[in-house]
Amino acid sequence: MDYFLYKDGELQAEDCAVAQLAQTYGTPLYLYSRATLERHWHAFDNAVANHPHLICYAVKANSNLAVLNVLARLGSGFDIVSGGELARVIEAGGDPKKVVFSGVGKTVSEMEMALELGIYCFNVESAAELEQLNLVALRLGKVAPVSLRVNPDVDAGTHPYISTGLKENKFGIAMEEAEAIFLRAHELAGLEVKGADCHIGSQLTEIQPFLDAMDRMLGLIDRLAEKGVSISHLDVGGGLGVTYDDEVPPQPSDYASALLERLAGRELKLIFEPGRAIAANAGIFVTQVLYLKQNSEKNFALVDGAMNDLIRPSLYSAWQNIIAVNPRQGDTLNYDIVGPVCETGDFLGKDRSLVLESGDLLAVRSSGAYGFTMSSNYNSRPRAAEVMVDGSAHYLVREREKIAQLWQGEQLLP
Ligand code: LLP
Repeated sequence: MDYFLYKDGELQAEDCAVAQLAQTYGTPLYLYSRATLERHWHAFDNAVANHPHLICYAVKANSNLAVLNVLARLGSGFDIVSGGELARVIEAGGDPKKVVFSGVGKTVSEMEMALELGIYCFNVESAAELEQLNLVALRLGKVAPVSLRVNPDVDAGTHPYISTGLKENKFGIAMEEAEAIFLRAHELAGLEVKGADCHIGSQLTEIQPFLDAMDRMLGLIDRLAEKGVSISHLDVGGGLGVTYDDEVPPQPSDYASALLERLAGRELKLIFEPGRAIAANAGIFVTQVLYLKQNSEKNFALVDGAMNDLIRPSLYSAWQNIIAVNPRQGDTLNYDIVGPVCETGDFLGKDRSLVLESGDLLAVRSSGAYGFTMSSNYNSRPRAAEVMVDGSAHYLVREREKIAQLWQGEQLLP
């Protein structure tokens, strides 16, 4: 459920008219709903209320400072994958003691920064990274809290680019090697083994792959206990899917109760790293129709937003619903909604049945996750503005990039 609904034939973002916001802030524009973000975060938190847990929102989904700050105020933890994301969390008022650091390629300076800030845990993804982290921690006179990301080799049944739990993926440590690497971590003076983690993919719409992964992780945790390595938390990663079209993903409450059933009698603290499930449907991308154009094959709506702003359709053939901000009466046509970028792959949607005139505003739904964070300046297009609505109030949370910012840091030859 989100708070982008029609009222009197006009799309609203909470209690604000989207057309009015587009006029105030211009297009293309990302619009986020605070109430939706909070609702989704609480859905996770309440789902595991009676069991020790930490919700670590995956910053990569949407790292705008205002988004992070709204979640930090709820007491959220954060899952980060770079020093840049860590700095954003701190800047937004997040608590470093609730940060888990994922990612296959952490640099020495990122390790130092995270150790100095005292993060909750490093999710280590290889034996080589483990050795490096140990050295960095010893040099700083610290002990690094670690979890090992294990690859449980389950098929998440999702898009190959966003499925991460299979052996062929670069992520995590193979289950067969995990025990030995845990024992090694246990031995190293600069490390303290805290947890075990996995993340099998994104946009999962079934519970079963999560349960298969959990069974394998619990088996590993039991084998480690026999060898004297005790694990105090299990981080199950992110990956819970959302409704873009007609998918019916499990609710956080169904997902959490299925996991908790498996945990019965164990003390193990549960960590979740949801990104999409919190942010995707808390945002829309608003774009204006510049021109309508027909040829013998197709009707095109050329809009002012493009693949540089929202790359999911081009990159993954992802389908996101595109709706009119002020729907018109009349005969619908099938339109390809395309942007100004010079690539055939520059589209936001294909074959969308709409009644359009130039100047109309369109909203691409479910754009709050992996929208702005994946945007670029391709074709020297300034990045879009971001606005957060909160009831009838609205706040510019990132100004539209200015043309001169496009070459900031560039130099002419002498
Ligand atoms: N934890 C780890 C270690 C991850 O790699 C990810 C996402 C998450 C948590 C959050 O997963 P979520 O709850 O959002 O599914 N750009 C793609 C999605 C890439 C996901 C990468 N990892 C997309 O637009 O669909």
